[in-house]
Amino acid sequence: MKQIIGLDIGTNSVKAIIIGNGNIIDQKSVGYNPDYPSSGCVEQSPDVWWNAVKEAIKALTEANPGDVVAISASGQMHSSVFLDRDGNVIRKAILWNDTRTSQQVAEINQVVGGEAKLLNMVYNRALEGFTLPKILWLRTNEPDNFAQVAKVVMPKDYVNFKLTGRIATDVSDAAGTMLFDVAKGQWSSGLIEKVGINADILPEVLESIDIVGNVLPELAAELGLSENTLVIAGGADNSCAAIGNGAIEAGQTIISIGTSGTVVTMLDKVPAHITGDVHMFNYSYPNSYYAMGCMLCAGESLNWLRDIVAIKDFEAFNVLAERSKPGAGGVVFLPYLFGERCPWPNPAARGVFFGLSNTTSKEDMVRAVMEGVAFNLRAMYDLIEPFTKIKEIYITGGGAKSHIWGQIIADVLGRQMQVLNIEEGPAFGAALIAGVGAKVFSNFAEAKAQFLKTNRIIEPTARDIYAKQFKVFKKLYEVNQCLFAE
Ligand code: XUL
Repeated sequence: MKQIIGLDIGTNSVKAIIIGNGNIIDQKSVGYNPDYPSSGCVEQSPDVWWNAVKEAIKALTEANPGDVVAISASGQMHSSVFLDRDGNVIRKAILWNDTRTSQQVAEINQVVGGEAKLLNMVYNRALEGFTLPKILWLRTNEPDNFAQVAKVVMPKDYVNFKLTGRIATDVSDAAGTMLFDVAKGQWSSGLIEKVGINADILPEVLESIDIVGNVLPELAAELGLSENTLVIAGGADNSCAAIGNGAIEAGQTIISIGTSGTVVTMLDKVPAHITGDVHMFNYSYPNSYYAMGCMLCAGESLNWLRDIVAIKDFEAFNVLAERSKPGAGGVVFLPYLFGERCPWPNPAARGVFFGLSNTTSKEDMVRAVMEGVAFNLRAMYDLIEPFTKIKEIYITGGGAKSHIWGQIIADVLGRQMQVLNIEEGPAFGAALIAGVGAKVFSNFAEAKAQFLKTNRIIEPTARDIYAKQFKVFKKLYEVNQCLFAE
């Protein structure tokens, strides 16, 4: 049987999944922790990923002997791996959730002459987490390290380099550096010149389905692979996750609730007017793009409530939410426990319960948290909707597992949602990309048809009450936004 391995190089683990014959055969996770050298700083040694990748692949090939024809990886976006001219790691990678680079973000906006100009060049606003600010931080703060930099790549690119000996990235990770002209699909020479870095430090850019190379012979033996195993470029975790969750036609949309929450819509062109309110990146499906809204505290809002009311069981939460009614007795929750990124970027924003009365029950408060997250997803959805006709919406993560939360989200959006049979996210998406790249599947439609089926359809019901409450939700943020910083 032809087998394919998909990897996800995450922040807390490497996940590996092996697929074949329309099935997920097995999977293996190897966990680790990031390093927090000081407040706002998050780093990780690329060797931690590489060792975890080797352990996970070995475990899968030992337990499932067969012919692995291709491997591909998805990875945390934006995290910067600095390599010297011999391909050695110069320092620990600075991760996507590291926020030490506010000064560099200001510097970028200043040298390009404002946000509008930056949007014209790279289609995204400057954010602390993106790769370019990290490169500039290194230049200012660690000049000796910076002087040695021959290439900057992202985590999955480093893994591909270790597997094949070739340094390259793909369009979806290139887009997350903030140095990529998303519409043209090439490095932005304009921005490179403005910020004054050497273009040679940027890697060659492939499509996600392109072949990087074969697994190096000595490694193939160690990992239980054949020397013919192809390494396919793969992509950014959000891009791979969207592929794995079934977005393979323009307009198909994924709503995902994990710790954070995302709305991702596939696009066949970069919209003419963009505001930077949502990210605009190149997609792992060739010649296409995706718009992504990312809220910081989705599933985590419910985790927080669960911890403070000491109810350990999520099912108990579902029962409580069910006992309240749509509109949660007038209680509205702003889910900004970590500040917010989308729809309104505001690190100072904080959570709010509004509309409490002496009749407010625990049930109402649980439901209000679920509704608050749904309202924020709706606000992100509204930013993306003008870009394309939104087709199928696939919901995944915690929001899909909880029937009541899934229903609330469908009601708040006034849209039907589908829950698919497989919810494996980025590693599974990477495996499908590997399969298309290695021509095991003739295209993504064939891959999707072999693996993904709709398990459940959620139809929207209570729209009116939510339409009213959504207005209150937005106004609540608007009138309070200046208070958060105070
Ligand atoms: C996306 C982002 C995160 C990382 C996490 O812009 O910063 O989703 O990709 O792995």
